[in-house]
Order: sequence, then structure tokens, then C-alpha cells
Amino acid sequence: MPIIFHDKSKTFHLKNEYVSYIIHIMENGQLENLYYGKSVHDHGEFDRLHEECLRSQSSICVPDPSLLSMHYARQEYPVYGTGDFRSPVCTIRQADGSRIVDFRYVSHTVSGGKPSLPGLPSTYVEADDEAQTLVIRLHDDLMGTDLYLYYSIYRDYPVITRHAQFVHAGEEGIILERAMSASVEFLDMDYDFLQLSGAWARERYPKRRRLEMGLQGIQGLAGTAAGAEQNPFAALLRPDATEESGEVYGFSLVYSGNFLANVEVSTFDMTRLSIGINPENFAWKLEKGESFTTPEVVMVYSDSGLGGMSRTYHRLYRSRLVRGMWRDKARPILLNNWEGTYFDFNEEIILKMAKEAKEVGVELFVLDDGWFGKRNDDRRGLGDWFCNLEKIPSGIDGLSRKVEAIGLKFGLWVELEMINEDSDLYREHPDWLIEAPGRYRCHARHQYVLDYTRKEVVDYIYGMMSELLGKSKISYIKWDMNRYMTEPFSAALPADRQGEVMHRYILGVYSLYERLTSEYPGILFESCASGGARFDPGMLYYAPQTWCSDDSDANERLKIQYGTSIVYPLSSIGSHVSAVPNHQLMRRTPLHTRAAVAYFGTFGYELVLGKLKDYELAEVKRQIDFMKEHRALIQTDGDFYRISSPFEHNETGWITVSQDRKQALALYAQTLNKVNASWIRFKLKGLDPDTRYRVRYEVVEEPREYSVFGFGPTEGGAEKREFIAYGDELMNIGIVVDRIDFYRLGGDFAAFVYEIMA
Ligand code: GLA
Repeated sequence: MPIIFHDKSKTFHLKNEYVSYIIHIMENGQLENLYYGKSVHDHGEFDRLHEECLRSQSSICVPDPSLLSMHYARQEYPVYGTGDFRSPVCTIRQADGSRIVDFRYVSHTVSGGKPSLPGLPSTYVEADDEAQTLVIRLHDDLMGTDLYLYYSIYRDYPVITRHAQFVHAGEEGIILERAMSASVEFLDMDYDFLQLSGAWARERYPKRRRLEMGLQGIQGLAGTAAGAEQNPFAALLRPDATEESGEVYGFSLVYSGNFLANVEVSTFDMTRLSIGINPENFAWKLEKGESFTTPEVVMVYSDSGLGGMSRTYHRLYRSRLVRGMWRDKARPILLNNWEGTYFDFNEEIILKMAKEAKEVGVELFVLDDGWFGKRNDDRRGLGDWFCNLEKIPSGIDGLSRKVEAIGLKFGLWVELEMINEDSDLYREHPDWLIEAPGRYRCHARHQYVLDYTRKEVVDYIYGMMSELLGKSKISYIKWDMNRYMTEPFSAALPADRQGEVMHRYILGVYSLYERLTSEYPGILFESCASGGARFDPGMLYYAPQTWCSDDSDANERLKIQYGTSIVYPLSSIGSHVSAVPNHQLMRRTPLHTRAAVAYFGTFGYELVLGKLKDYELAEVKRQIDFMKEHRALIQTDGDFYRISSPFEHNETGWITVSQDRKQALALYAQTLNKVNASWIRFKLKGLDPDTRYRVRYEVVEEPREYSVFGFGPTEGGAEKREFIAYGDELMNIGIVVDRIDFYRLGGDFAAFVYEIMA
């Protein structure tokens, strides 16, 4: 049994083959963490790990002769007051203005399985023996409030999930001013802090720094999304931890709104990591009989470095966070018209693009922004989710049927949470947007945020979407969100509930996602927010894939996809081949390289196929065939290993290996070409050392009128290569990469894709 309670020593041991987590009920009834790390044997005397001693300035929180002080205790859910001077995870303002709280252990239950969270996304189980859940009930007598701490441990993963729930039964209302999901305390400070940071078009760059005494952390305050700036994820790594070795603790918040991941190191070298909803701009009122549930945090322990942590997140999120029929299916290869046409299209152009897509083997046509209301630019139309018949006379229902008749599935872009002033919706309901009375209303991309805290607003948008989806043949929805919330205030909430706006907004978004995804289970949803500003586990619960970034340049994508893979599986990474010169950077990269990078994701095209030359179209056909052959490995089966980081090297390397290690696909890509440089060995990972593999790759040349290194002019084409090697050779000696081939592949930004088969 993975969760054991020792009554005598008042200790809980959550344990599986990989991880142990030990909790102790202290003398004052509060909870202490005694250990979190690699799995250890169980016994009944872990209470000896509890330490206390008299120190100067200790505030003792129990009667003599005990020396228990919260100042030095490693707490499970710390509050401020009565002797702990570090950051709390919970602050509650009571009717008399006091913020002193005292939650004491009352009881606990252990049960098989894992409960879902009301109105919130979370990881799940499909059978009760996949996980066990401990719920510890604590109570504050004076307030009349219960605090339930939830811990679930998976049987087959080094994963513990946590969240908290407050149930208020006191006569007087209380205000939760801080209600974070979890806090974990470590005995020492010998850790690095890892975060995924960025901005539009350069999302999720890994940043690693040494912990120091005091506060450090990351936060999101953008309201409508966790944001492109910081991802709701943090990890603590032992300083010697590398990609494949050493201890790493990951904390991933299943939430899409404001968050805080905060580490405080005390001057006694103790490290407290807290994660949850950001307390800034948050205050949640609980009247008698009301309850509040925090989002879930997914904690992964790895003793095989960052790569080990990532592979756990990938497997768990791919199979026990993502839901629905697309979870275990390879994703359709799509063509999206955005970078091809922007707003400048009509039905004829779209049908032509769809026919061209069909000819090369594309499976899904996605009509992006510009099809609705009076949306001919980004100044108008948001909120009017009915077709612009001037552009598309057949309507979406007619167009979707015509696209299906061509032999493609049809997908559509929407941005359901937003409104333009120039829209019928605004003219009808000018009070439906989020703005603060008497304050200037910031605009962003000429648009405003609809008040999703209001049920009637969500219902109205649901009604429009439901009608559209009901009468059209729609197989895919790209759900975009292109601005942050600036003046959080809802006209529908009283003054003492304005602190609830930002969380209520996210709950409103989740409720609409839940309704649409359950009513239309066959539709594949892809979330998006100005590219990758909403790449978070909360979204993945509803939408199995996320548009990773508006930056579609292949070389930039190496970094963005590498960083994204720290937490998120390849099946979730929306990746397209776009035109050159690239629209974000004006950079030219070979077509072969653009596809090589995009293979490691959901794969699609975002360009006008009709503008490509014949040899390029032939190459696109080959790419699509290649992806069809390999996408199950990439998206539903493979374990992903990062080999060479684009943040540290001119060369990027990675590989995805099937669970049975009989198949793999590896990428080796360089940024700039080097002249007269050294030999290269590309060492693979994750293969079976004793298996004999056949390795295939292609040197794809674009037509050339001149000679390079003795290679004369060419009309272009792919030279196929193949060799046999054992896994141990591929991993320890490596693949010989011939620099001459880089010249043939185009020099700068050249890439190889290796197919490895047992
Ligand atoms: C956002 C998305 C793009 C595209 C545009 C349309 O920027 O990230 O992919 O859909 O909106 O306006």
C-alpha cells in the first residue's frame, strides 16, 4: 500500500517504488514534512526526524517544557503568525480583522484512486489501483473552518499531486487573501532554481540559478493566461544535476491564470517552495457553507536528472491529463491559412488552398482569423461568431462541407473570450467587458476581455458556438486568446468580491471548455494565446495540443520546442512549416530543416502551397508521408531525450525512442555553418545497447547552379543513406556527421533526421 499511517509516531508515509514523502503531525496539531525524495523503507519511527531546540528569539507555540517553534519547522501548509516569519501559503482575514489562523489535525482518510477537483482541471486515474489519495482534515475552531489537504501518489510514476480545500462553517464570513496549493520544505539550500521564461515569439527559455537566502521566484499576473513571460512551473535541482543524472524536483501547476512559484530560503538554510494562485489581486470571500478549492500541483521527483523529470511529465500528461478521443491518437497533419493570407482571403482562395493541401497529403484545413463578423483587420469583429458572407458566401456550414468534399477535415479559429468595440456584441452589451469604473480602459490589439465571471456571458458565447458547431462540419478548433487582463473588475460582483475576478474568469473559461469539449467529443481543440502564452497543464486538460509560438522560424523553434519539452509532451506542441523568408525574422532556412524541427510536435504547414516551386512541393509530399509513418512514435509512444541544447551549443540534438526501444527518431541541427572545423560524433540516448539498429537518413539538396566542395550543380533531391550499428555504438561512439553534408544541406541551419529501427 503506498500510503501508510503510523498511529504511534503520528507519521504518514506516501511511498511507491520511486519516491517517499513523509508527513508528521506535530505536538500543536500542525503538519510537518519530514522527508521528500527517493523511496526509502517504511517503519514506524520516522518521528525521530523531528527536531526542536531552544534558539534565541524562538517563539514557542506549545506550553512548557516543549520547545516547538514554527520558525524552524518544515511545514506542510504554513501560515503567518505565532512564530513563523517566512512566507505563508495561506492568509485568512476574519470578521474582527485578525489574520491569525490555527489549523489543527482532526482526522484523515486514505482511499484508492484520485478525486477530480470541482470546476478545475487535474490529472486523473482510470482505475482505482493507479493511485491512492490521502486527505488530511485540519480545523480552525475560532473561525469554524476546515482545511482539507489532498495528497495523491501514483503507483507507476514518481508523482505526488497536492491541492487544498477550505470549507467554511463559521457564522462570520472570512476572506482568503492567500490560498496557495502547496508548500514543500527542504532541510538545506543546496539547490538550483529552474524556470521557463520568455516573451512573445521566444517562449519558455530555461533559466537556471543558484538559490540564495531570502526570496526568489516567478509569477504570472496577466489574468487571462499564465503568460508567455513565466510558465507555471519551477524545479529545484541539486547543483550537480545534469540532463541525465542527479536529483530534480519538479512543480507544475495545473492552472491557466495568475500564479506564484515562490522559494524562500531561511537563514538556517531551509528551503520552502510554495506554489499556487498568486495572492496579488486575489481575495476570496467564504460565507457559511461555502468552500474553495485550490488548483492542483503535480510534483515529480527524478534521480535521473532533468531528462528523467521531463519524461515523467510527458508520460503522465500525455496519458493522465489530456482527455478524450485524441489523447491516444496521432494528430492530423494540417494546413493553416494564417501566415499564408492573414485577413486577405475569400472562399475561392480558401478552396484553392484546400485543394492544393489535399494534393500533397494534408488531412485538415484550418481557417484562421478573419472569417466572422466584419473582421477584415484586427480592429473589429471579435464577439460576432457568425460568418462574414461577403468573404465566404457559402457560410461556414457550406464551406466546411465543400472542404470535406475535397477530402479534408475542416477546422476553425476562434477567440471566444474577447470583444472589439466595433462589433454587434459590443453594441448590444457594452457592459459585458472587464473594466474598472472611472478608470482608463487599456486596449491591446484593439480588443477587450469579456467578463467570463458572469454566467450569462459564458452562456451567450456558448450559444453562438454551439449553433455554429452544430450546423457545420467542424473537426478542429483553434481557441485563441490574444490579450492580458488590465483592470480586473466585474460589474456583476459586489465590492467585497472584486478580489475574485481573476480566478472566477479562469473558472468561466474552464466551464466553457468543459461544455464544448463534452458536447463535441470528436473535435480536436488546440489552445493558443498570441502563440504560446497559454502553454500550461490546465489548458491541456481540455485541449490536447497548444500552438507553441507565433515564431515559426525553424532555428528559433529549436530553442522554443527544446524549452517547452522540459515539461510538455511532443504531442502537445503545435509545430508548423512556414514560408521563407520567415515572417518573424526574415530568415531563410532550408525547407528540409523547417520540417525536421516541426516533426517533433503535431506537424502542419502555414504557407501558400501554390507559391512553392515544383521541387518544393515534391519535398512537402515526402515530408507528409514521412510524418504519417512516424507520428505515432512521436506523439503517442516515444520517450523524449534532449541531447544537445541550443542554448549552449551551435548544435541541437534530441531523440524520441519507442517504449519497446525498437524504433527511434533523432534530430541533429546546426545553427551556423563552421568552416574547416573538427569532426562530429552525434551520441544518441535511450536505445537498447544490445539491439542492432538500421539507421537511415537523407541528405536533401535544394537545386543549385554552382559547385560546392566538388558537388556540382543539381536539380535537387534526396540522397538516401543507411548503415547498421548496435545501440551501444550509437550511444557511446555516436553517429559520424560529415561536415561536407552540411554544405549540401544548405550550410547554415542544416539538419539531419535519423530513423533508427531494430
Ligand atoms: C494569434 C495567433 C496566431 C493567429 C493570430 C490571428 O496571434 O497566435 O496564430 O491565429 O492570432 O489573429
